[in-house]
Amino acid sequence: MGSIDKTSMQRRRFIQAASVASIGALVSPSLFLTSCMRDSIVDPAIESNTPFNNPLPSLPSVGTSATLVAQNSLARIFPNVQTRVLGYRNDGILGPTFRARRNDPITVRLQNGLNEATNIHWHGLLVPANMDGHPKDLAQAGGSFAYQYTISQRAGTYWYHPHPHRRTAKQVFMGLAGFFIVSDSEEEALRLPSGDYEILLVIQDKRTNSSRTDLTYNPNMMDVMTGFLGDKILTNGRHGCFVNVATRYYRFRILNGSTARIYNLALSNNAQFYVIGNDGGLLPTLQMVHELLLGPGERADLLIDFSPYNVGTEMYLVSKTFANGGMAQGRQRFEILRFKVDRQEHDTFNVPTALSNIQPLSPGSAVQTRRFDISNPGMMMGGHRINNKTFDPNRIDETVRFNTTEVWEFDNTNGDDPHPMHIHGVQFQVVRRVGGRNTVMPWEMGWKDTVLVMPGEKVQVIMRFEAHKGTFVFHCHNLEHEDDGMMLNFEIV
Ligand code: C2O
Ligand code: CU
Ligand code: CU
Repeated sequence: MGSIDKTSMQRRRFIQAASVASIGALVSPSLFLTSCMRDSIVDPAIESNTPFNNPLPSLPSVGTSATLVAQNSLARIFPNVQTRVLGYRNDGILGPTFRARRNDPITVRLQNGLNEATNIHWHGLLVPANMDGHPKDLAQAGGSFAYQYTISQRAGTYWYHPHPHRRTAKQVFMGLAGFFIVSDSEEEALRLPSGDYEILLVIQDKRTNSSRTDLTYNPNMMDVMTGFLGDKILTNGRHGCFVNVATRYYRFRILNGSTARIYNLALSNNAQFYVIGNDGGLLPTLQMVHELLLGPGERADLLIDFSPYNVGTEMYLVSKTFANGGMAQGRQRFEILRFKVDRQEHDTFNVPTALSNIQPLSPGSAVQTRRFDISNPGMMMGGHRINNKTFDPNRIDETVRFNTTEVWEFDNTNGDDPHPMHIHGVQFQVVRRVGGRNTVMPWEMGWKDTVLVMPGEKVQVIMRFEAHKGTFVFHCHNLEHEDDGMMLNFEIV
């Protein structure tokens, strides 16, 4: 079946389901169908004619101890206008980049300057359950929360963001997020490009009002189905950025910090680039790719070689179209960041092929396999679900024994939309993918905490629950899906 056919079929199915659901939800069917038709089931087109003339901001760093104040803030996202956002500072969007080494103690005081509850989840970090930003552990409006833990894991590109149930998507969209970089001696020994040659990049899509003075977060029922997709791409909290580069290797640590949008990252000249790491740090070996599909919450650690180009060359980091993106994604190619090669520089960096020592977990060592249906059958009848359940903060859905290994299978065989599945409290390895792409992708080697499960795919991951006991969540990192209920509790005992 061609994608057009599939889309119209999905639309029919959606409209049928929608009219049933609207009766159940006492929403006027005609009202609902009109808004559904108006938005239709396609990407909101990414704005074209962006000049990419704004310098890429670098995100300020903090050490291992900090106070973060979640607050209303003003940011220079666009030239010549101040936009109302949320930030962990009073003069901009996003939060500082934490830089820590393995075994460092971390102390963070969150002060809540919002008019609603918030908290911080340390995405990818293995922290005690009561420090993990579980949706029930909140700082109320005007209150605070003291986070304290020790980094007990390998180097990697981690991040942090709020996690209050039903408000996560909005708070992240409005600007609350930041990087958390951990280093260790294994990584330092590789002497990867650093300083000016290491660029942190968070990619996010936004919608604004027409004067661009406000970010607009107002998902309708259709947006909740697909995820809320913006028409403007921000890098490090700014729209239409460029970065000057020298003729040498650069390291790019990329975070997809969007609520729902998936990016198929590539270079506009289709040059290959190297993947050295992902969510949980370095891969075992270097992978060469021409494109890389990055779902919300996932990270990619890349090397790009600019030495073949003449000074004056320009190219873009782009998102290419991709197949099987469900009802709304993958149909449009767009630019993300402009590179300008502006100077000659000699580079003595040797690309290492062996990167990191990783013991594969053997499925034979798993004490059990848990299966999770994430295809959301009958979804319009009451929220996004995992195994037909929506999130209840006080219900334990799965109980796991400390220091055991398990396989978890996320089954989207019959689903219509992609689901980037994320598990707190662990890093896992991707064992296999059946259906769809039918393989573990090169950038999914090593350790991960979020895995993209496209329509038609069934993905197995394996992990050992050896970091901390207690109650954690796992969920879809399409944050509209998460807020709509696609999250469960598991307790490690
Ligand atoms: Cu990045 Cu539970 O989330
Ligand atoms: Cu997380
Ligand atoms: Cu989802």
